[in-house]
Amino acid sequence: MTREQYLRLIAALGAGSLLPQNVLAELLTVTELRRSDFGTNFIWGTATAAYQIEGGWNEDGKGESIWDHFTHYKKQKIKTRENGDVACDFYHRYESDIELMRQMNIPASRFSIAWSRILPQGTGAVNQRGIDFYHRVIDKCLKENVTPWVTCYHWDLPQALEEKGGWSNRDSIKWFEEYVNIISNAYGDKVKNWMVFNEPMAFVPLGYLIGVHAPGKVNFEKFYKAVHNVVMCHGAGGRVLRSNVKGGNIGTTFSCSHIDAKNDKPANLKAAKRADAFINRLFFDPIMGLGYPTQDLPACKQIEKHIQPGDEEKMKFDFDFIGLQNYSRMMVYNLGLIPIIHFANVPAKKLGNDMTDMGWEVYPEGIYQLIKKYSAYKDVPPLVITENGAAFPDVVNNGEVNDTKRLQFIKDYLAQVLRAKNEGADVRGYFIWSFMDNFEWAEGYRPRFGLVHNDFTTQKRTVKASGKWFSEFLKA
Ligand code: BGC
Repeated sequence: MTREQYLRLIAALGAGSLLPQNVLAELLTVTELRRSDFGTNFIWGTATAAYQIEGGWNEDGKGESIWDHFTHYKKQKIKTRENGDVACDFYHRYESDIELMRQMNIPASRFSIAWSRILPQGTGAVNQRGIDFYHRVIDKCLKENVTPWVTCYHWDLPQALEEKGGWSNRDSIKWFEEYVNIISNAYGDKVKNWMVFNEPMAFVPLGYLIGVHAPGKVNFEKFYKAVHNVVMCHGAGGRVLRSNVKGGNIGTTFSCSHIDAKNDKPANLKAAKRADAFINRLFFDPIMGLGYPTQDLPACKQIEKHIQPGDEEKMKFDFDFIGLQNYSRMMVYNLGLIPIIHFANVPAKKLGNDMTDMGWEVYPEGIYQLIKKYSAYKDVPPLVITENGAAFPDVVNNGEVNDTKRLQFIKDYLAQVLRAKNEGADVRGYFIWSFMDNFEWAEGYRPRFGLVHNDFTTQKRTVKASGKWFSEFLKA
């Protein structure tokens, strides 16, 4: 069968009705993917975040962020004792990096704005040099034909606000509105694609419940409050963007994981539902107007205590798109002694599949399951995969990085995105995490996620085999 015949066959089968799902998935994996399979309007890009690439941590009037503070004063929390003071030095090298994106045919770049460059104290006085920096970045993107997709908040709260309680202070709703208002007024004419948050299910529990990320708090009460305030900020930020950005495409992003129960024991099945409520629904459901998933996750009662009159309406926001970010899946079992969630994960190494350098299981079908899951919500907006990718220990050999595992990972996950799309899911784009190797939070610089290798001593960029494949794929 020729490739064209094969694709026609898939199309004719519509929602994969005749072929068993596993056979269809297999076929998609072995068949070389083409950009055109995804349609002409499908959005392709790579993603980064301010703290992970910029460096210039205290330059040109920038204030301290919680990640500056955390890496400087709680060094032991970073496995390698490193920090993002310099990172990829994107602050000084953005021009050549964006030129490289263009050379690699990358049509869109998702990046975030560092709040403390714009408002060094979090609120009040605006730092014009910070505003100017992102004007330069955005202008350069536009010049190189790279469409900017801007995330308002990718985990780097101004430290001055953390000192007032950070996300656990209800004033955070006001602070966030002020910040989003400033950046959307500044850039709204040039940037049309906006995301309010990056992965609330990561920064809220990691920062306030288990303390492994900035600001490093372990405090149930702060966690519950922060969940509710951040939910409220989704609506608040979304509304500010909607009113300031004419013709804007306003979304937000969620980390998500396909969840399986370890076995069919009723307690484990219930644990899987609880895990799903915690990992996949805690922020998403209230934003969709469904309230907290209290029935499946009773701990939500503690969050509901913080709902004030009038909040229910404001928690909901009609986003233009939802960003899904997926890396791995989770297999869980009931474990009563774990507070709040009462479940634990089966370690990835026991699951029998390949693992990435983060110790995460490679499980391509998970992304298909998640697209199906979120597509099934009533009135769900279109989906965009705003992050997917893998860390592997890459080495430069004679000027080349032969990252075959990452390349296979991307192809296998993409095949599953296509599978969901061919079955009718409204998925409109795919961004690889990440454009280049960068500061991987509490893991330091060891895990390399980039399509472009970075030598952190010389700042030399080397396009990896996966990056070369992506640029060829995009060129077609
Ligand atoms: C985050 C990125 C992070 C990546 C890999 C996502 O959770 O948005 O900042 O580097 O995953 O861990």
